[in-house]
Amino acid sequence: MSPGPIALDFNETNSSEIFAQRLPLSKDKPLPQILAVVVAHLHEIIRELRPTSADWRSAIEFLTEVGHACDERRQEWVLLSDLFGVSALVEEINTRRPRQATPNTVRGPFFRADAPKLPLGATISLDGIGERLDVSGYVKDLDGHPIAGAEIMTWQANAQGYYENQQPDLQPEFNLRGVFKADGQGAFHYRTVKPAGYGVPDDGPVGKLLRQAGYPLRRPAHLHFMVKAPGFETITTHLYDGSDPHLGEDAIFGVKRELIRDFQRVSADGASVWRLDFTFVMARAKQGAEA
Ligand code: BEZ
Ligand code: FE
Repeated sequence: MSPGPIALDFNETNSSEIFAQRLPLSKDKPLPQILAVVVAHLHEIIRELRPTSADWRSAIEFLTEVGHACDERRQEWVLLSDLFGVSALVEEINTRRPRQATPNTVRGPFFRADAPKLPLGATISLDGIGERLDVSGYVKDLDGHPIAGAEIMTWQANAQGYYENQQPDLQPEFNLRGVFKADGQGAFHYRTVKPAGYGVPDDGPVGKLLRQAGYPLRRPAHLHFMVKAPGFETITTHLYDGSDPHLGEDAIFGVKRELIRDFQRVSADGASVWRLDFTFVMARAKQGAEA
């Protein structure tokens, strides 16, 4: 088949159009449509930034390095999506909830799906290093009814700001991770240690690039949660320490006012410990949607 006349005239102004002409665009096929949009924006970037061939080779080398930096402990592509604000934007678009429901935020690269199931009241601090923090709360629906048996998964950084999968030689496996099941009243409680804020990893290609560009790479102190119950939208979120001075400059746009809490100083077992209380409010899953 010989190319049509337009295909022979590929140039700076018609490049996206010519690309799109080769696709079988139709309403019932999303992939060609997605490709046409992605490529049109990519061509727009090239027209605006006008990279040299050497610049473009560097960009491809960067993307190659991002791929090579990924393994079963590290997800550099997730980090790139998070730091570019893309993950937060996707969450914003997809999880618009009633105002009273707990909002979603970014899941982040340190999540592990295989955290151990623990009984209520257990500690997730396997090395006991840090200031004790007692976490308790409820899981409820929008009418205030408890959601018995809801699953609460949590993961967090330690008192120095590192996750166990960042320090496999220094922290016990599954340190500061656990999965709990709410009781018949929708209540849960467990023990941990107060997490520190941290700098997002800058030893890989994504962190290096952003540091070079002068982008702030801090995350304020937080705990991560994923809360699940049949028939409800899964909540993937954080709770933030209200005393952290960096709440306003989170590198991944994950801080929302509803998720900031002041940790309280209380006495327990004859000692002064930190306490955090929170009620997760779940919205019903939309008909036909995955929970
Ligand atoms: C985190 O909170 O664990 C995280 C999220 C996105 C980028 C880096 C860290
Ligand atoms: Fe985190």
